[in-house]
Amino acid sequence: MAGFTITGFNHIAYPISTRQHSLPLYRDILGLAVIPSMVDGPAVIWTQMDSGTMVHPIEAPEPGKLGTFHLAFGVESVPEAMASLEASGIKINSHGERHDGQEFAFVFDPDGNRLEFASVNDRKVHGRVCDEWGITSWAKDGVEGHSGRHQTSDAPIRVLSTEHAGVPITDRKRSVTFYRDVVGLKIIPEMVESDSITWLALPDGSMLHLVETEQGDAHTYHGGFVVEDLDVAIDAVKQLDAENTRVGDRLDGRRALHFDDADGNHVELVSNDPLKSGHRVADEWGYTTDV
Ligand SMILES: [Fe+2]
Ligand SMILES: [Fe+2]
Repeated sequence: MAGFTITGFNHIAYPISTRQHSLPLYRDILGLAVIPSMVDGPAVIWTQMDSGTMVHPIEAPEPGKLGTFHLAFGVESVPEAMASLEASGIKINSHGERHDGQEFAFVFDPDGNRLEFASVNDRKVHGRVCDEWGITSWAKDGVEGHSGRHQTSDAPIRVLSTEHAGVPITDRKRSVTFYRDVVGLKIIPEMVESDSITWLALPDGSMLHLVETEQGDAHTYHGGFVVEDLDVAIDAVKQLDAENTRVGDRLDGRRALHFDDADGNHVELVSNDPLKSGHRVADEWGYTTDV
């Protein structure tokens, strides 16, 4: 049992080429609000959905070379999370505090996937503003056209919340031991027909899906976002001519639309249908059968 409490997802980070190339999908099609970044690095764009969870597209460190993905769990207390992780033998890679008082710590999972643990946003007044591309500065600079939040009112899709994140793993028992026993997530029945995906629940009902895959398959990493109307989203994504587009049904009554963003990142949109039990049970490793 982990000695700290995860509250949900704080953000999902995506490596992108440039903001001009990739931000329009997240801002103008998915309707995420561009908000001021609380870090100094100019490559990180902060966007936010209705639930408060953020998506952080991060520009490539050099042209033609995408960075790496990471995902951030929200926690009640970062010092508590760090102490608990260290007590389990997990090395804290870096940690600190952002301009809005948000504390954070980075670790690696057993496959080297980067994970972040972050406290809530806006813990203190920060006075930062951004333009519609997420270029952020201090309000006192008085930069023309900058404000706190930029949201496109006529975006065709409306993202409500983060339902799950998918992470590539290569050794199921090693990863389940980490995410279940060290991070403290709960195994739940998997609601698709596959023997290579482990479903785990966060306390707020969102989920982490561990996907067994070849080493280094970054395309497996994705965010699964609940949208107001999936049929509208399917039509809107059709207009994009996106790669790897497919729609699938799940055993819990939800439908999912998968497609790639402009840089080949895997994005998933999930219908807002009420969840059904599916009459399935999972063992301690997430292997699921019908009852
Ligand atoms: Fe992050
Ligand atoms: Fe997914």
